[in-house]
Amino acid sequence: CGIVGYVGADEACPFLIDGLRRLEYRGYDSSGVAIHSGASFDITRSVGRIDSLVGRMGDSPAKGTMGIGHTRWATHGPATEPNAHPHQGGDGEVVLVHNGVIENFQILKDELIEKGYQFKSETDSEVAAHLIAENLKNTPEIEGQPNLRFLTAVQTSVARLRGTYGLAVAFRDRPNFMIAARFGSPLVIGVGKGEYFVSSDASPLAGRTDRIVYMADHQIAVLTPDGFSVLHRDSGKVRVDIRPLEVDTGDVSLGGYDHYMLKEIFEQPESIRNAMRGRLDDQDATAVFGGLNLTPQQLRSVERIILTGCGTSWHSALVGEYLIEGLARIPVSVEYASELRYRNPPIENNTLVFGITQSGETADTLAALRETKRKGHRTLAICNVVASSIAQAADGGVYLHAGPEIGVASTKAYTSQCCVLAMLALYFGRTRHLSFEGGQRLIEELRRLPTAVQQALTCDEQVRDVAKKYCDATNVLYLGRQYNFPTALEGALKLKEISYIHAEGYPAAEMKHGPIALVDEKTPSVFIVPRGTTHDKVMANMEEVKARGGPIIAVASHDDPHIEAIADDVIRVPQVQEFLQPIVTVVPLQLLSYHIALLRGCDVDKPRNLAKSVTVE
Ligand code: G6P
Repeated sequence: CGIVGYVGADEACPFLIDGLRRLEYRGYDSSGVAIHSGASFDITRSVGRIDSLVGRMGDSPAKGTMGIGHTRWATHGPATEPNAHPHQGGDGEVVLVHNGVIENFQILKDELIEKGYQFKSETDSEVAAHLIAENLKNTPEIEGQPNLRFLTAVQTSVARLRGTYGLAVAFRDRPNFMIAARFGSPLVIGVGKGEYFVSSDASPLAGRTDRIVYMADHQIAVLTPDGFSVLHRDSGKVRVDIRPLEVDTGDVSLGGYDHYMLKEIFEQPESIRNAMRGRLDDQDATAVFGGLNLTPQQLRSVERIILTGCGTSWHSALVGEYLIEGLARIPVSVEYASELRYRNPPIENNTLVFGITQSGETADTLAALRETKRKGHRTLAICNVVASSIAQAADGGVYLHAGPEIGVASTKAYTSQCCVLAMLALYFGRTRHLSFEGGQRLIEELRRLPTAVQQALTCDEQVRDVAKKYCDATNVLYLGRQYNFPTALEGALKLKEISYIHAEGYPAAEMKHGPIALVDEKTPSVFIVPRGTTHDKVMANMEEVKARGGPIIAVASHDDPHIEAIADDVIRVPQVQEFLQPIVTVVPLQLLSYHIALLRGCDVDKPRNLAKSVTVE
């Protein structure tokens, strides 16, 4: 979910709406704003996208110089208008927006119902609104300190919340006044002149101010048009750093494409080039990274690497495992961030933990990095969004420089992540077993990648025809081996995400231990079978599917003459060195899911139930 807030001299609504649009990547199930008109709140809420909220407001959006807004990814309660934020507490004297999950909401709710509070939603968030109203009622006003009562009510209330929260709270009886509170859910303050902003991340602030404060856990901020102060929940005022705002204001237009996803797929030759720019060192046949912050001793003493992330980023971690183990001979484990954060595995000293994330805001990845850092391990981020929460929480890292990725299904960020991981494998490899010549060969191959991806994109029209043939399938299998096993997982995920067709990715040879039972004439199997060590083995797996009547789509190398004899449809991709194949073979699979989703009339860029970045655990 995404939060915005404004207090100042301008109309609040334009900032709130514009800010919510920029935060829509955090969820788009419903949205809402509350504007303080001077005497009361004018609240508008709507199911669906920010556009529908704007439509609801019509030509006369609410007027007022203080307001809060929210875009939701539903956790407790479906995406309905009563569940949309802002929520009101008491008789409307408190209004708030919340990101996070209040885990003890049921206990608090029961208590509040007992006291006579009436709940209008099924959300955990409404509990916080009534709790603050209740504490406000019980807190006397202190003469000469009009803000203190409101602050105390919020302090007392958040002390009772278990779970995570980013909160922006406004009060009917105190216009031009806002309180923000953070625990486990990122919140920033934009510092303007006579105006202050609150937001879940820095992006809404671009163009409005260039000064930002990143709130820390347990902090509470009080904001008025005259200034702001930040307190620790329990120990009083804290000094905060006002930092310059760094936001990547890259191209966010559709640039002639029908969808962001298609644009981003076609941007890949360029985004891969940008990931490599300035990072390939011919002189020493290695890669160079400005932000890893590792001393040569630390670099040489690395004994193990953990790669962690969620969704597509987790798939690139799997590619990274093959790359780093193969080229640098360092043991690698890949962990789902959501599992790593609680699993408490034994981790040796001299282990590097990489969090891989496009947005830099995924709650589980952030928590996994924090947890491993707490235990003394060095944490690094492979991240696209500059100055995002994860980029800041890590000890160092590598930016992807892929430019904004707007389509919810990740495409260019994935190939850039794989590319960065290949360069990291080169970098680590060159401090160990990889020879100068070996390094040179890798660099040559990496340099060929943008052209290879460009060539792979020429299959677009053919893929469209293949999509027409299979768009009514209800199950699709994706099968590949070694470097292309993660490609199978990623191809299946892409199809699931945007076309809602059930798809499974499997190591091709593992298919015979279960998934082969699904094979029939209505269940196509997509084989990723470029030339390489396991090519002939995968061909044998294809025969096994063919023998059972399953249609076969093959992603194969140009110079593979035998493939047509087995596969019903063959999509050709250029041959690159085996370890870089996933960056090329994934391209037709991205296009396949795009065209199938389009044919099925799905919303490609904003698929149902998903968010670009999931900011709750
Ligand atoms: C969400 C998105 C996925 C993405 C994952 C991780 O689930 O829908 O496309 O791969 O989050 O996001 P991150 O920003 O951490 O890479």
